[in-house]
Amino acid sequence: MADKQQVHIVLVGFMGTGKSTVSQLLARRLDCETIDVDAEIERREGRSIPEIFAHRGEASFRKAETAALADVLSHEERKVIATGGGAVLAPSNCELMLDSALVVALTADAEQIISRVSQDASRPLLQGDLRQRVNQLMEDRKHAYDFAHLTIDTSKLNAHEVVDKIVAFLQQ
Ligand code: S3P
Repeated sequence: MADKQQVHIVLVGFMGTGKSTVSQLLARRLDCETIDVDAEIERREGRSIPEIFAHRGEASFRKAETAALADVLSHEERKVIATGGGAVLAPSNCELMLDSALVVALTADAEQIISRVSQDASRPLLQGDLRQRVNQLMEDRKHAYDFAHLTIDTSKLNAHEVVDKIVAFLQQ
């Protein structure tokens, strides 16, 4: 990673760990722009994430995700980047993030995640029995976020407190 004060900041983590909210607050605090990779994919494809999964399948979504992530990371100016929970599944995506950004993993316990994601029914990978899907995916991805430079458990923190921790880490 290059200079901590200049590099992009990428937020990774399971669905419902607060990446989008934290990225907006953090960008405001650091006075830079935020980019949401999922929103960027939807803009490029002209379709919502559920539509991309339904029409083209997960593999096609993952390709679009890798391409969007690489483009977002190639910006010169510092960005705070919120990724989708599965952006870490391709090892090459993780390498790219580690090379060009400070990677912050947000975690939360299963109960918190279930309560947060139950507000929003639009996640294709969580269709069906929500509790079973979350537990299964959390198990499958148990170590997927371990590569981050910094990990913050958000279970008992609000978004401002998470931002405070990231800013403190940047100032160390
Ligand atoms: C996914 C997470 C979603 C979105 C897509 C797949 C995943 O993003 O990219 O539905 O595989 O975990 P959020 O983590 O922002 O919900």
